[in-house]
Amino acid sequence: MSLAIGHAGAVTKLIEDGLGHHGDAEVGPGLVDLAVNVRRQSMPAWLAAPIAGSLAELAAYPDDGEATAAVAARHGRDPAEVLLTAGAAQAFVLLAQAFREARRPVVVHPQFTEPEAALRNAGHRVERVLLREENGFRLDPALVPADADLVFVGNPTNPTSVLHPAAVIAELAKPGRITVVDEAFSDTTYKPEMPETEPDSLSRRRDLPGLVVLRSLTKTWGLAGLRIGYLLADPDTVRKLRRQQPLWAVSTPALAAAKACASETAVRAEREIAAQLADERRHLVAGLRSVPGVTVAGDPQSAFVAIRLPGADKLRLELRERGYAVRRGDTFPGLGADWLRVAVRDTATTDAFLATLNDVLEEGL
Ligand SMILES: Cc1ncc(COP(=O)(O)O)c(C=O)c1O
Repeated sequence: MSLAIGHAGAVTKLIEDGLGHHGDAEVGPGLVDLAVNVRRQSMPAWLAAPIAGSLAELAAYPDDGEATAAVAARHGRDPAEVLLTAGAAQAFVLLAQAFREARRPVVVHPQFTEPEAALRNAGHRVERVLLREENGFRLDPALVPADADLVFVGNPTNPTSVLHPAAVIAELAKPGRITVVDEAFSDTTYKPEMPETEPDSLSRRRDLPGLVVLRSLTKTWGLAGLRIGYLLADPDTVRKLRRQQPLWAVSTPALAAAKACASETAVRAEREIAAQLADERRHLVAGLRSVPGVTVAGDPQSAFVAIRLPGADKLRLELRERGYAVRRGDTFPGLGADWLRVAVRDTATTDAFLATLNDVLEEGL
């Protein structure tokens, strides 16, 4: 009984803190969705066919062997270093539960709020390290307490879109610490000088002690409703996390998607999407920078851009009136009421949005 009351109290507190708020709560009928960072394109045949084909096998319990092997091969790892999960979101819960003995869990903010929510729901006392706008929201590993034994950082980071250099993130890893790098959006990053690889991913690094890399397949591939992601870590850590996972947590259609998304065709397509996204992002960022009063955070490198402007909270409501849903920024620790997050879309959608934004600001709020 007391447990149930304690849990309900914790959930209420998380909602009050805004940690439970996500972009999907901002969208609605008739609104152009600039709030959710899931790509909305028709599904390629190489992905749709295996998902559809798997429906004929639903009478059997899922077998994750082939999908695990495919994901491992994609990242140059052993299958024992892979755990498929029901979205990256499930991985946060597994980590929070498996490492209940952590003495000093730290979350680097601003970032996606679910790691902190999962830690708090599992009874952890969470410490925050706040990165600052004046430093471009860049990570300084020295800000993380030396005795922090469970550390969460996003790369690239939602909502700031900042991509930390792999070498800087790697500095966090050390014996006695679990370092969790949320790479849910790593496939959206792109540097023209290395077009075939994700520039700052640690997914292939097997030498860093305690490193856990989280990946999501729900964003680029528009699979948010299917729930599929995975984590990469040393075999002992994978075993420890697997023990926390419900049996058959990843459905047969989700496993079919994981296998397809690990193929060479998929990785090639991801790189092409990332290259196009880079052009579309440049267009959005240039447009936003030309709007009086708008400051673009850091050096955006992912599928969204964080902006600051006075009165952003009121502006968001006015934009809704005019047909655009953007993500509020105030629920991210380290940001506030003057912040919004805007998804990168095709240039026509961006141009129409920028025209509306300019209109609202010229008319005065
Ligand atoms: C940074 C980040 N990590 C992880 C997730 C969870 O993704 P999934 O759909 O794979 O659970 C999200 C979803 O919004 C996210 O923004």
